[in-house]
Amino acid sequence: QTVRLADYRRTDFVLRGVDMTLKLFEGRTEVLTRLSLERRPGAPANAALELDGDELILESIAVDGAILEPGRYDATPESLSVTGLPETGPFELAIETRIAPEDNTKLMGLYRSNGIWCTQCEAEGFRRITYFLDRPDVLAPYRVRIEADRAAAPVLLSNGNPVESGDLGDGRHFAVWDDPFNKPSYLFAVVAGDLDALRDTFLTMSGRTVELGIYTEKGRARQAAYAMDALKRSMAWDERRFGREYDLDVFNVVAIADFNMGAMENKGLNVFNHKYVLLDPDIATDADYAGVETVIAHEYFHNWTGNRITCRDWFQLCLKEGLTVYRDQEFSADERERTVQRIGSVRRLKAHQFPEDQGPLQHPVRPGEYREINNFYTATVYDKGAEVVRMIATLLGEADFRKGMDLYFERHDGEAATIEDFVACFEQAGAVDLSQFALWYAQAGTPTLTVTEAWDPQERRHTVRLRQSLAPGAARTGTEPMVLPIRFGLVGGNGEERRAEGRVAGGARLDGDLIVLDGREATVTFAGLSDRPYLSVLRDFSAPVTLEHDQAEADRLALARLDRNLFNRWRALDDLLSGGLTRAARRPLGDTAPSLDGAVVDALLASAGDEELDPAFRGQVLTLPGEAEIARQLGEGVDPDRVHAVVEDARAVIGRKGLSTFARLAAAEGSDVPFTPDAASAGRRALANAALAYLAAARNDPAEVAARYRSAGNMTDRIAALAILGHRFPQSDASEEALADFYRRYETDELVLDKWFALQATAPFHDALAAVERLAGHPRFTMRNPNRVRALVGSFAASNQVAFHRPDGAGYRFVAEKLVALDRINPQIAARIATTFRAWRSFEAGRRAKLEETLRQIAETKGLSKDLGDIVDRSLK
Ligand code: ARG
Ligand code: ZN
Repeated sequence: QTVRLADYRRTDFVLRGVDMTLKLFEGRTEVLTRLSLERRPGAPANAALELDGDELILESIAVDGAILEPGRYDATPESLSVTGLPETGPFELAIETRIAPEDNTKLMGLYRSNGIWCTQCEAEGFRRITYFLDRPDVLAPYRVRIEADRAAAPVLLSNGNPVESGDLGDGRHFAVWDDPFNKPSYLFAVVAGDLDALRDTFLTMSGRTVELGIYTEKGRARQAAYAMDALKRSMAWDERRFGREYDLDVFNVVAIADFNMGAMENKGLNVFNHKYVLLDPDIATDADYAGVETVIAHEYFHNWTGNRITCRDWFQLCLKEGLTVYRDQEFSADERERTVQRIGSVRRLKAHQFPEDQGPLQHPVRPGEYREINNFYTATVYDKGAEVVRMIATLLGEADFRKGMDLYFERHDGEAATIEDFVACFEQAGAVDLSQFALWYAQAGTPTLTVTEAWDPQERRHTVRLRQSLAPGAARTGTEPMVLPIRFGLVGGNGEERRAEGRVAGGARLDGDLIVLDGREATVTFAGLSDRPYLSVLRDFSAPVTLEHDQAEADRLALARLDRNLFNRWRALDDLLSGGLTRAARRPLGDTAPSLDGAVVDALLASAGDEELDPAFRGQVLTLPGEAEIARQLGEGVDPDRVHAVVEDARAVIGRKGLSTFARLAAAEGSDVPFTPDAASAGRRALANAALAYLAAARNDPAEVAARYRSAGNMTDRIAALAILGHRFPQSDASEEALADFYRRYETDELVLDKWFALQATAPFHDALAAVERLAGHPRFTMRNPNRVRALVGSFAASNQVAFHRPDGAGYRFVAEKLVALDRINPQIAARIATTFRAWRSFEAGRRAKLEETLRQIAETKGLSKDLGDIVDRSLK
């Protein structure tokens, strides 16, 4: 059934406190929960208390110490309803449940991972532990007592501060944790197990010492060193940038092998997928280092944006997620390199959020309804949500944005808030009306911004015409004009920024280097120019729109060379590349015209070889738009084989023309350079490895890549060489030998094995399916570990355009079969992987029919979960 935002109602009962005891035994866990409750003033005197459950068994129930008679309550696995409760005044409800974490394969609630007891409660996992008012607007302090065998679980952790621990005899012991901060149940956490710890301290700005601990499986604490460093930098940054100080005496992080998502911000006890904690140069790539830094920061930042101020209901998810992604992106921009960071975020937005917003799973940043909330932890809520916050910052300017954030923290601390509350703080801080701006939260879809230019040589005037439109989409949420902050510059022939008086006609205003378009169209006329400027528009991607700018190739080439805004310098090239590749992919098969203009290739090579530019930026320049991005831009009738051929052809053309540049760049970063994970070193490796890939495309010789594989001094270089071997020279001796060597070298490390599975799953040739089917039977493949399933099935479906979309439909059948099996074990992961089917309408007729048929077959499967059912139903609609 569907939950609607419009139906929001407060609970009839107020929760004042939670006292829990969890007794952990092999095979069973006993949970005793004492809730201090009171009927809300004004609530009906006869209203029953309705608690949520999920696969629960009730052992006992008592009110104020008296066991309840069966007539007073009704318990099912999904709910517990209690009647005859006091009309006024506080009372205590005690509930005993018994659960089996060992059998919990959904990894929601309390479960075991490699023997460790751990929890995941967001969004609705707490109800799998005990009956509860399991919703984010029910806040209370918690006191938690954990009892377990000392040998199996010497470490006992929960939220808040540790207050007591001791021995229970019989080899058992206990610990009590007290969390004084009001919190909703989704932030509850318990961890118990035999863990190692890396410890450190952080001195806060007011002079308090916080004990930091990162817990790992035995023997791996050393691999948490970079995560610890990132954590301390995050804590310092949040003080500097937002004035936010940490609030408990301890902050713990636990790394877990079996985890449905990246990580979870439980109060004072963050639980992480170990992929985002454990690193060293031999097992992790630069991208892994950056990922750890981002996720550590993200979860830490949630302490204020999410925990101290939480969400009134799950429709407000972007209140914490969009804002916290914005904050972690700003952190990475400050800690690394801002332009390169922004390019990465925009690529990600276009790769994940744009297709979601332009297809059947479309929904607004704040959805109005859902069947399964877990299916709304999406790129739209997270990444477009972050863009909406960024636009507020752009519109208000740095000082007023900070004022608005301060007001938000001050006014709503301790509350469960809404988007309206958040926006109101910025209206007040900036003395602005954001009611039209708020349409960004309500209207789904990617707006199109159309820009045209006209130079009047007589009057020496440049006229820029801007129009916005929003196509009606699956979400049916309205198409009113939105507020688009468009950062721009007029660039002169030597790259100088031109200053010119601008006059606005129509629905926009001009504010320094910002055009704020809030009507359907407007023109801005710049007068008094000596000659025609190059228009650099939508700098830094200042609004998440599809830009249609009828700019001449010569202008783009000039901007690719001259623009002082480096983001737009990159985008000028990226637009030229994706424009060329898209046009080439539209031409009939057999048309051998080159996919890229010579001038575009020259511009790309000039930037790549420009020693004045940051290597990381040059690495980005060399990263061609992906095949999925070209497919998205094509929009319909997509033939993935054709797209692949066009991109490969471009790579070879660029490689041959830039042979000497690439040889120099690839040699620059030898294996004798010791590994450090900083952004500058990572940038140099990215550039060298991009160059190596072009060399391989041009020379078609695996020997030199194999040598590179053997001499690699770190995982970044090793996996880069292995990927070239496996993807460009599939089934060659060089590639088979390297894959076998890699397996032998790393077979004891699950995280590195995931890379080995994923690399083979994404090899772009039809026969990769046979390899993937074989790997699904490999002794190290298991459906129980989400990372492993994502590495093999998830990356095959999402990132192997060629083999997944085999014209015979065998790729679709393979994935569908795995999803139906996975659905019985872990529906959340099955639903997530199934989203790759959503683009089915954009393919050529043959594949389109097979995709649709596959979706229908999944939909008709008996006993499908709500999670997977929701995704396939909406995809077909
Ligand atoms: N709140 C977590 C984070 O963004 C993610 C939780 C995802 N939960 C889910 N049910 N999918 O850091
Ligand atoms: Zn988050």
